[in-house]
Amino acid sequence: MEVMLDHLPESSFNLGSVNVKDTTDTNEALCGFSNARGKPLYQYLEHNPAEGKKFGGYMRAQASAHGDQAIKDGYDWTSLKGKTLVDCGGSFGSVCAAIVQKEPSIKCIVQDLPKVVENANDVVSKNPKFPKDSITFQAHSFFEPQPTVADVYLFRQVFLNHSDARARTIFGALKDVLKPGAKVIVIEYVQPSMGEAPIYADMAHRRLDNTMYALMKGKVRELSEFKRVAAEAVPGLEFTSFKQGQFRATHDPRCHCVMEWTYNPKTNGEAAPTVAA
Ligand SMILES: C[S@@+](CC[C@H](N)C(=O)[O-])C[C@H]1O[C@@H](n2cnc3c(N)ncnc32)[C@H](O)[C@@H]1O
Repeated sequence: MEVMLDHLPESSFNLGSVNVKDTTDTNEALCGFSNARGKPLYQYLEHNPAEGKKFGGYMRAQASAHGDQAIKDGYDWTSLKGKTLVDCGGSFGSVCAAIVQKEPSIKCIVQDLPKVVENANDVVSKNPKFPKDSITFQAHSFFEPQPTVADVYLFRQVFLNHSDARARTIFGALKDVLKPGAKVIVIEYVQPSMGEAPIYADMAHRRLDNTMYALMKGKVRELSEFKRVAAEAVPGLEFTSFKQGQFRATHDPRCHCVMEWTYNPKTNGEAAPTVAA
């Protein structure tokens, strides 16, 4: 609450001038937060370690309730036996830790910004329970071409931080390493279409959409928006499955949807997806 109350109101009050200056919504550095605080959110947190620590705690608190179970139940991880998975923007590796608990033969590489990787290595080295044999860390920005060839690229709670232009860059950065059959899995809130969800769940998603826009020019996307952005970025990325998250009144990892694309260079991305309940 403190993190949100410190920054969100002022970021929102700045949106009018942001929209006048960036009419095409493409300059992420110019957002409500950066107008209010002089820097984009993540840069600001890096320059203000006490704030960064509070914010990290807030993120962990959001994820901790039901987070591991939501990941384990969200996808058939056993189908990835023996595969290599890169978790892009994977923070301290908690998502991968839940995945390898479910399927220990998956080898995970958690990528994040250099400072985060440095902290993560430090934290996991002191945690005897962290599955170090299965999970390693690598500094890499997901805006730059992906250096690691893998079977699966995972993004959890990454795209909601970014505009469509940046989302296309993130998907596009995978282009050179995608092998036929490689999978891209995105776990995140998906905005229900109008009238699809109970009003309390619909409003929770729309509230988060407003928050992400004010803080980072990010957004909560509808499924059609995810499909469009991915198809525009990587021809041949075929949308292959969708698992609906629970409809709840609050932000909760159980509300995350799981989307899967499979790289098939011979198609135009129009395969009929599997839809899981
Ligand atoms: C909302 S957090 C999600 C973390 C993690 N995927 C999870 O679900 O718990 C977004 C993550 O993206 C990372 N990040 C931000 N910009 C990045 C970049 N350019 N390249 C790689 N990671 C980045 C942040 O450090 C943060 O760990």
